[in-house]
Amino acid sequence: MPTTKLLITSALPYINGDIHIGHLVEHIQTDVFVRFQRLMGKTVLAICGADTHGTATMIAARKAGVSEQQIIERQVARHVADLAGFDVTYDRYGSTDAPDNKVLVERIWAALNAAGMVATRDVTQLFDPVAGTFLADRFVKGTCPKCGAADQDGDNCTVCGATYAPTDLKDPRSTLSGAKPELKSARHWFVELEKMRPFLEQWTQQSGAVAPAIARWIKGAFLIEGEPLRDWDVSRPAPYFGFEIPGAPGNFFYVWVDAPVGYIAATVEAERAHGRDGLAWWTDPAVEIHHNIGKDITYFHTLFWPAMLKAAGFQLPTRVHIHGWLTVNGAKMSKRDGTFINARAWLDSGLDPAGLRYYLASKLNGSADDLDLNFAEYQAKIDADLVGKVVNLASRTARFVPALAKSYPDDGGRFAAAAAESEAIAAAYARLDTADAVRRIMALADRANEYVEAAAPWALKKDPGKAEELARCCTVALNLFRQLCVY
Ligand code: MSP
Ligand code: ZN
Repeated sequence: MPTTKLLITSALPYINGDIHIGHLVEHIQTDVFVRFQRLMGKTVLAICGADTHGTATMIAARKAGVSEQQIIERQVARHVADLAGFDVTYDRYGSTDAPDNKVLVERIWAALNAAGMVATRDVTQLFDPVAGTFLADRFVKGTCPKCGAADQDGDNCTVCGATYAPTDLKDPRSTLSGAKPELKSARHWFVELEKMRPFLEQWTQQSGAVAPAIARWIKGAFLIEGEPLRDWDVSRPAPYFGFEIPGAPGNFFYVWVDAPVGYIAATVEAERAHGRDGLAWWTDPAVEIHHNIGKDITYFHTLFWPAMLKAAGFQLPTRVHIHGWLTVNGAKMSKRDGTFINARAWLDSGLDPAGLRYYLASKLNGSADDLDLNFAEYQAKIDADLVGKVVNLASRTARFVPALAKSYPDDGGRFAAAAAESEAIAAAYARLDTADAVRRIMALADRANEYVEAAAPWALKKDPGKAEELARCCTVALNLFRQLCVY
């Protein structure tokens, strides 16, 4: 029997910021896929939520003089409203701080321990003497130890793609206080990924869970022959906002441990609202699990996450759909250049959110290639495609027609030809190649417009003897328009 149930997720945006147009690339990719699968009759659960733990939330709460929970509540509401502004909704937009998530993280942790994959050792970490806290990777910036690029994050380099420990950075500084971090030692807990190597080799290289190009990249970057997989440091000493590790008082799970588990917790919450057991979605082999993520978090979703799921006996992702990075007018989004655009700012500007949905869908192609939001091209696509080709079909005919033709007229085979395209269009949507889907749909719009041009309803309108011909022409145009709208 073909699969009829799909669990589809977007990565959980960090709580410490608003939704921006970079995030929207992913949410629109997910939302189009969700709508497509539902149109095809599948049962879909669409899941997202906010990634809440870590030092940043703790610092933000301290600064604002409120609790972390208050920050979460306010930010989740903002995320949900901003996404809704772009017609993106999830069955559950959860929070990684949810009680269900704590229970699930502890269950997975117990499974990792039972599998003999947990070890402890002392770690010397960067400590911010001014803020009084160990520094999460994201709060250290410095020079990449591999390629020497300046101003890189504490865990990975956006220039050469290297991943490393923040202590490897050259010239590190704390982004919390600007202080030069000190080295300080504390006990840490590790997951020994190497123990799952045969599984990870098989899953990343042979299961079809990632595109071939990504599989090759994972192999070259992490599954290097003769080199064991690095142990994953999963604990952070207090003070840290997160879940305390059972049996390790004063130590907390690193944010990236409980973040993906948030997918499961949000599923449980979504289904509980209907009196159903959400865990079934993660234990039933007939369910397809689809993650949509950006290329920067591939490592977490294709090594750590499957290892955790595997250890705990949950189902593995069917597919991790990895998209590229959004640039604006050819450059990295930047606050200084005004190209770091929040979803809210777009909505407030009066630009139609459907325009961005269409534009991004016309660029997304299921690959991890970067995509550019170019405003000249944006305007051209909206004017030429959406208005010129699609909306125009209706606006140039609907106002001429007092009544439709009694039976569907001869349209030169156009409706049938467009219907025959449905398989190819569906196949494009199914592989998240919305660029191809849009190309095909616009080609059909061209055929429809040729028909209208030739029939010239505006001329027929002037001739009272041609009323029936006018009705026929408008009937065909509106029917083709409706077909395009469905696609
Ligand atoms: N909290 C983590 C994800 C945890 S998932 C268990 C995180 N959050 S994020 O807010 O930084 O990013 C959320 C998603 O948005 C990621 O998939 C990321 O790749 C994507 N994007 C963020 N900025 C982006 C662009 N400029 N362009 C395209 N996608 C971007 O990572
Ligand atoms: Zn680098």
